[in-house]
Amino acid sequence: MRFPLNLFRSLVPLFVLSLLLAACQREPTPGTTDTATPAKRPEAAVTAPDRDEHSYAEPHRVMIEDLALDLALDFDSRTLAGTATYTLDWKDGEADALVLDTRDLTIEAVEGDAGDGWQPLDYTLDDADPLFGSRLAIQAPGQPGQVRVTYRTSPGASGLQWLEPSMTEGGELPFMFSQSQAIHARSWVPLQDTPGVRYTYTARITTRPDVMVLMSADNDPDAQRGGEFTFSMPQKIPSYLMAIAAGDLVFKPISGRSGVWAEPATVDAAVAEFEDTEQMIATAEELYGPYRWERYDLLILPPSFPYGGMENPRLSFITPTVIVGDKSLVSLIAHELAHSWSGNLVTNASWKDMWLNEGFTSYVENRIVEAIYGEEFADMEWVIARRGLEQEIETVRPALQVLAVDGADAADPEDTFSSVAYDKGAWFLQFLEERFGREQLDAFLRGYFDHFAFQSISTPQFVDYLKAELVAADPTAVSEAELDEWLHQPGIPASAPQVLSPRLGLVDSARLAWLGSAQLPPPQLTAEWSSQEWIHFLEGMPETLSLEQMAQLDTAYMFSQTPNGEIAMRWFPLAVRSGYAVAYPPMEEFLVRVGRRKLIMPTYEALVQSPEGVAVARDVLERARPGYHPITTASVEQVIARAPEPAPAPVSPVLEGEPEPGEAAEPAIDPEAGDAGQGGRA
Ligand code: BES
Ligand code: ZN
Repeated sequence: MRFPLNLFRSLVPLFVLSLLLAACQREPTPGTTDTATPAKRPEAAVTAPDRDEHSYAEPHRVMIEDLALDLALDFDSRTLAGTATYTLDWKDGEADALVLDTRDLTIEAVEGDAGDGWQPLDYTLDDADPLFGSRLAIQAPGQPGQVRVTYRTSPGASGLQWLEPSMTEGGELPFMFSQSQAIHARSWVPLQDTPGVRYTYTARITTRPDVMVLMSADNDPDAQRGGEFTFSMPQKIPSYLMAIAAGDLVFKPISGRSGVWAEPATVDAAVAEFEDTEQMIATAEELYGPYRWERYDLLILPPSFPYGGMENPRLSFITPTVIVGDKSLVSLIAHELAHSWSGNLVTNASWKDMWLNEGFTSYVENRIVEAIYGEEFADMEWVIARRGLEQEIETVRPALQVLAVDGADAADPEDTFSSVAYDKGAWFLQFLEERFGREQLDAFLRGYFDHFAFQSISTPQFVDYLKAELVAADPTAVSEAELDEWLHQPGIPASAPQVLSPRLGLVDSARLAWLGSAQLPPPQLTAEWSSQEWIHFLEGMPETLSLEQMAQLDTAYMFSQTPNGEIAMRWFPLAVRSGYAVAYPPMEEFLVRVGRRKLIMPTYEALVQSPEGVAVARDVLERARPGYHPITTASVEQVIARAPEPAPAPVSPVLEGEPEPGEAAEPAIDPEAGDAGQGGRA
C-alpha cells in the first residue's frame, strides 16, 4: 500500500464498509457436477463459412487470395481512384460469378484474365442497402484466375476521413485516413468484405509529392516522400484490417522493431507516452508466442479519429487523446498490440462472434498491463470495466447480452460492438483462468493462437477446441451448464470471479466522505491519483449534484478544463444533468475538437434529454461537422434524432426531492415533470 499511513487510517472505516458491500455482491460458485463433455481435437479447417450475414460475398464459391491495388489518392477531389486486381481461388466448379461488397463506389470497368489477356466482363451493381451498400455481381464464365475492377470512391466514403490542413496540428498539409472495421472497407475497395476471407495484398499509391503515405503493411521507417509509394502485406489478412493514411507524418523509433508515426508536433510526446511498447511486445510474446508481423508501429491520428485505437496490422492507429503525460491510458496500446494475436492472427469469421476478437483481446490487454504496471493497476482496470459492463448491459436487449450472438439478432454489426463482447468476453477467460489455473490457461491460449494462426473461426470451433485442449485435462473444473451460461445466456453469470481494488475502495471512501460532509479528500491523497482513480471518483457520483457541489469540485480539480478525455467524458454529462452552465463553453470546445465516439457520445446523450440541450447538441454538431468522421457524425445524428419528445405542459406542479448522497436521482428530464424538470437543476 503506497498511501501515507495516517490518511489510510482515517479512511479505513469507510473503506472496510465498501469492501463489505462489494463482497455482498457475487461470489464465484464452485464447479458443479454436470461437467463439460470433452470433444475430440478438431482439425483447423481453412474453409470459409458459407454465409456472413453482413456481406454479400459467396466465399464458398470463390475466394480472393491476393489483392493488388493501384490507386491515385487525391486530396482535392477527396477520392481514391484506380484499379483493384484480384487473384482468385475458385472453390466451386459450377461457379460463374464473383460477388463483391461495395458502398458508394463508382465502378468504371470490370475485366477478367483467364490466361488470354484482359477481357471486359459483364456486371450488375445493385441499389444500395442502407447498412450493407451495393452488391456487385461480376459475371465470370470460365473462372478467370484474375479479375480487375476500375473504380473511384465517393468524397463521403464511410470508411475514409479527409481533413483540411486547418484540422491538423501542423496546419499546412491535408490529412486522410481509413477506418475499415467493421464493414467500411467496402467504401474504399470493392471486396469480399467479411472477416471470414483472408488474402495478401500489395499496393501502389500515387499522391501529391509532399505527403507521407502509410498502410497496414510493410511501412519503411526511412521512407521518403515524393508522390509514389509501394506496399506489400505478405501475410493473409481480412478486409477490415485494410488501412491507409496520408499526411505530414514523420517517424521516431521506440525500439528496433517499433516506433511512432505522427505529425512533427506530436511525435516526441507520443514516443515518451508509449515508450513501454517494446516491453509490451516482449511480454505478450512470452505469454502467447512470437510476434509474427515483423514491425509494430503506432500511427497517431488527429483527434477526430472516431475510436481509441484500431489494430491495423503492423501499424495500430491511435487517438491522440490518450497522450496525457503520465502513461495512465497506455492500456490502449496493450489492447491494440494484443490484437496481433487475438483478432489479427485468429479472427472472428463473422461479426456475431466479435467476442472472439475483443473479449480475448481485453483479457490479453489486462495480462500485459498486469505484467508491466502491476496487479493493483490491472485490478483497477478490471473494476472500472466491469462497472461499465454492469451499467451498459441493462441497456442491451437480452439477445445481445450473450457472447455467441445469433446472426439473426445482429442485423447491423455495430449491434455486437458493446462491452458484452469486450468485458463479458474477458471475464469469461478470467473465469477459465480461475477454474483451470493460470499456467494451464496460458498454455491453452498459446496453443490456440498457434493452432488457428491466420485463420478465421466461429464460437463453435473455439468451444470444440476448448473442450479438447483444456476441459479434457480437468473435466470437473467447469460444468456444461456454466459454459452454456457464459456463452449463450444473457446477463452476467453467477460464476463470474470478483475482483476487488483497494485503491478504488479508497476512492469510494473519499467520495462518500465528500458527499456526506463537503470535505474534499486530502490533496496528498489525490496528488497520487491516476486517471483510473479520477474516473472512478466521478463514476460513483449521484446522477446530479448541486451547483455548489459542482463548483467546489471544479475549483479544486479544474474538471471543466481537463485535457484528459476520460475525465471529460464523465464530468461534462454530470455538468449537463446538474445544470452547471459554467462547464458549457469548455464542453462545447471539447465536443468540437474531439471526434472519438466513446469520449463524446455520453455528453450528447445527456444533452438530448432536454429541449434546450437538443438545441445545444444541434448547434455543436453543426460547428463540429467539418472535423467529424462520417462514423461519428452518423452516431451523433442518431442520438439527436432519437431525443425524447418535449414533455407536455404541466397540469399541476410536481415536487421533486433532492437525491440522497449515493442514490441515483431521476433523470434531469422527467417526462411527467413538465418544464420544471428540464434544463437541469440547481
Ligand atoms: N477494433 C477495435 C475498434 C473497433 C471495434 C472499430 C469495432 C470498429 C468496430 C479496437 O481494438 C478497440 O477495441 N478500441 C477501443 C479501445 C480499447 C482499449 C477498448 C476503442 O476504440 O475505444
Ligand atoms: Zn479491440
